[in-house]
Amino acid sequence: MKNILVLFGGCSSEHDVSLVSAGSVISNIDASKYNIYMIGITKKGEWYLYEGPFSELPDDGWLSAGRLTKACVSPDRDVHGIIVERETGAETIRIDVAFPVLHGKNGEDGTVQGLFQLAGIPFVGCDMTSSAVSMDKIFTNTVADRNGIAQAKWESITKYEYESGEKKLEDIAARLGFPIFVKPANAGSSVGISKAHDAAELKAALDLALEHDTRILFEEFIDAYECECAVLGNDELFTGVVGQITPANEFYDYDAKYSNAASVLNIPALVPEETRHEIADAAKRTFKALGCSGFARVDFFVTKADGRVLFNEINTIPGFTSISMYPKMIEAAGISYSELCDRLISLAEEKWS
Ligand SMILES: Nc1ncnc2c1ncn2[C@@H]1O[C@H](COP(=O)(O)OP(=O)(O)OP(=O)(O)O)[C@@H](O)[C@H]1O
Ligand SMILES: [Mg+2]
Repeated sequence: MKNILVLFGGCSSEHDVSLVSAGSVISNIDASKYNIYMIGITKKGEWYLYEGPFSELPDDGWLSAGRLTKACVSPDRDVHGIIVERETGAETIRIDVAFPVLHGKNGEDGTVQGLFQLAGIPFVGCDMTSSAVSMDKIFTNTVADRNGIAQAKWESITKYEYESGEKKLEDIAARLGFPIFVKPANAGSSVGISKAHDAAELKAALDLALEHDTRILFEEFIDAYECECAVLGNDELFTGVVGQITPANEFYDYDAKYSNAASVLNIPALVPEETRHEIADAAKRTFKALGCSGFARVDFFVTKADGRVLFNEINTIPGFTSISMYPKMIEAAGISYSELCDRLISLAEEKWS
């Protein structure tokens, strides 16, 4: 039996989503093939080996539902696993493959991936560099531009450039035209993102974004359908059926994503078949350009006026609950959720062998 380590929770604004994603992953990993160890990371960043029912993960039920013992991943390659601070002393457990089911900062951004690379432990998903670049919307857009992947017109500013007057908001507005989307380079789940309709809103949107990061991205507004593509693989890439999200709110903000049930999901997307092919092709090119491996969900806009496909963003640990787009789009292409987990573990072993 192989030992699989599932990391869940995390010091991130997407902590709660991770709990639900991880619960789904654990319930779908083949228990006859793998021993599962769970490490939960609290919102404050404490690490515990959790020995209790995985059904108690949501809403942080795990904090009181089982045995919690301080634990960490050892960077020591001889340990090749975790160190658990038992009352009787330190226990080491060898890990064959780690599955970080962490969304957003401190989990999807290369930090945890770097730890596993240092430790020599194979892990599911993108490596440190591709995770970090994909998490950062300014770096991602730069790589997309360099690789000829079509996207919205964009600009960026740092806190210093803004405060010193080196770059001016008026110039950015003049180039992009209102409305303008303002996004922290590193955030996720629409946190700190706003749509500015005029100069006053642009200034307020920048101030809000600066609460989350010192590097800020501006994008022209694209009046479009939102389509998503699931990519699976290391070198030879498989794509799921392209899907579409119709947000309940003015844009797909945090509330529309997680609280408001009125957002509509369609698989396949309601765009022409050739557009879906174009999206799948662009998704694979984006995945490769960013050096991704394992899996990622690549999101696109399809313009309402003329059906152009524009890259929006990539998620290297996409939402993974049983009702999330990634597993649903893969399922629609014939791979069940549990088979998907199995493939991801095999892809991790293949990549790091
Ligand atoms: N340039 C744009 N034009 C029109 N709408 C946009 C634009 N950029 C973002 N949006 C809207 O805002 C939403 C959130 O933006 P984006 O996907 O970049 O952020 P995110 O926080 O990284 O989201 P995720 O949780 O998917 O990682 C999009 O789903 C879309 O509804
Ligand atoms: Mg998004």
